[in-house]
Amino acid sequence: MATAKRTTKQPAKTTVKRAAKRTAKKAVQQASRSSAATRARKVSKKTAEKTAEKTARTVTSRKSTARKSAAKRSGRASAGDAIALLKSDHREVEQLFKRFEKAGSGAHRVKGQLVASMIEALSRHAEIEELVFYPAVREQMSRAESDVLEALEEHHVVKVVLRELESMDPAAERFDAKVTVMMEAVRHHVKEEEGELFPKVRRQIDRRELVELGEQLRRAQRVVPTRPHPGAPDTPPGNVVAGAAVAVMDRARTVGKRAVDRVRDEIPSL
Ligand SMILES: [Fe+2]
Repeated sequence: MATAKRTTKQPAKTTVKRAAKRTAKKAVQQASRSSAATRARKVSKKTAEKTAEKTARTVTSRKSTARKSAAKRSGRASAGDAIALLKSDHREVEQLFKRFEKAGSGAHRVKGQLVASMIEALSRHAEIEELVFYPAVREQMSRAESDVLEALEEHHVVKVVLRELESMDPAAERFDAKVTVMMEAVRHHVKEEEGELFPKVRRQIDRRELVELGEQLRRAQRVVPTRPHPGAPDTPPGNVVAGAAVAVMDRARTVGKRAVDRVRDEIPSL
């Protein structure tokens, strides 16, 4: 009887053990599946992050390229406008100033030639600004009126000094000092124009109009006086009427002076 009880109890234990084993196995399998799913999720998350980073990089790169292209286009568009032209004049004159400063104290002939080039470049530059640029700015920007009036006065002072330099011997005691004062005045003028007036103009006047003004400045370059005339009118209509007449005289005198200089170079005793 006792034996019979044992035999009936043993299979029951075995069944329980097997059931427990199955449960444990299932739990392990489930855990394994869960862990695999977690790994998969992690991998998937990493992949997504990498893809997002790559996309972001691509977008940034495309934006940067677009910005560069826009800047390039804008540069091309503003290359020929009034402000670009006037700035280019400023750079040309600054080159002459630097060459003058580097020339030795005894380089009178070279300095004389450099000053002649400065006189022509600065006179032409001042005239085209007074004839085309300043009147347009005054007409369209009432708040730039004081900037323009100050610029006209600065031009006037520079013209007075240029006029004196025109007839001065480069070997004269005060020649270098006078050129230095003139260069300081021009540099101050350029700094104010490029730092204050031009940015205001660019903000206020439409780019198409600035391009058109650039064209007008280029046309004016061919006809304006090439020598300083501090006593002549510097605003329209006075400068329009007087400028045309003196421009012809200036060019004739400049051509004549160059011819004399060439002969002097060929015959040093003159
Ligand atoms: Fe100017």
